[in-house]
Amino acid sequence: MSSPATIRPVSIVSTGAYVPERILTNAEMEKMVDTTDEWIYSRTGIRERHIARDDEASSDMGAAAARVAMRDAGVDPEEIDLIIVGTCTPDMAFPSTACFVQKLIGAKNAACMDLSAACSGFLYAMEVGRQFISTGQATTALILGAEKLSTVTDWTDRTTCVLFGDGAGAAILKPSPDGARGIMSSVLGADGTLSDLLTIRGGGSRNPVSQQVVDENSNTIQMAGREVFKHAVTQMADAATAALASCGVSIDDIACIIPHQANARIIQAIGQKIGAPIEKFYVNVDRFGNTSAASIIIALDEAARAGRMKKGDLVLMVVFGGGFTWATSVVEW
Ligand code: UT7
Repeated sequence: MSSPATIRPVSIVSTGAYVPERILTNAEMEKMVDTTDEWIYSRTGIRERHIARDDEASSDMGAAAARVAMRDAGVDPEEIDLIIVGTCTPDMAFPSTACFVQKLIGAKNAACMDLSAACSGFLYAMEVGRQFISTGQATTALILGAEKLSTVTDWTDRTTCVLFGDGAGAAILKPSPDGARGIMSSVLGADGTLSDLLTIRGGGSRNPVSQQVVDENSNTIQMAGREVFKHAVTQMADAATAALASCGVSIDDIACIIPHQANARIIQAIGQKIGAPIEKFYVNVDRFGNTSAASIIIALDEAARAGRMKKGDLVLMVVFGGGFTWATSVVEW
């Protein structure tokens, strides 16, 4: 699915991010499972990740990120008319994490929902928010990616536990000022036939919480890493190419690429496929690991604050996750 043209252009007017204080290093991981800093860093590019406190849920992290984005945009909570949280680690099955964020920030005029697209959750949510604003249904949308993956990580499985971290990011969307193109094009896609390759099997209606689910750790992330790697590279490269084509832009026109932060080797492989030098990519997987739906928006927030893009620059965001799902957006900053 792609959306090249908009009725009313929509812009990202501010971003914010929050990561928990506690840092879990590769050296500490060496004491938890049979692994080494050398293996983790050379295979993934990860040095450390942040882990939330027991009393800190996805909505708490999301609200902290949202407060930064609201402050920077000068947006009052009452102005927000839509909150969408991309997450695969909601506070609860229901109410939605978005409702909890609403309560925490006092956005009493907002409609609230969560969006489940695993790691692609933020870009999927941003596209939904854009459609609401484009059609005049909303004027100020708060879009979040918020994850507490530490609660769905099997800390005894070395093939997955070294990869993930906790955190949240937020963006405020509004109608673009005159002449600004804002979000120029988005491509969303999915392939449910490959759902088994990256999944949390237990804890839902298919396989409800039971002693067996807990004993088998099937309430945690299971991943066929090598297979996921291959699909991630192909789908992200193809989706990025399609998004660029749909708005008539070449990769050379892009000032900064914000890729999903799952593995530095995946990022390098995408660069080779789409013909972009590695210097164009903003990479922070070394400090945060894979924070799923929060990954893209934490990276976008950091890149913006680091001055990686200036007003009018074109930014390409591209992500891939469980489902499989993938998404990409071209944005005029
Ligand atoms: O966010 C959603 C998308 N997720 C991703 O994009 C993740 C995609 N996959 C990956 O990033 C990589 O496949 C991994 C980082 C998960 C694994 O890297 P790999 O280069 O594909 O390694 P592998 O799974 O082929 O395993 C190579 C070896 C195996 O040992 P043998 O069979 O060769 O003896 C593993 O058992 O490395 C072993 N291994 C480890 N060794 C030390 C796996 N995990 C570890 C570990 N420490 N943590």
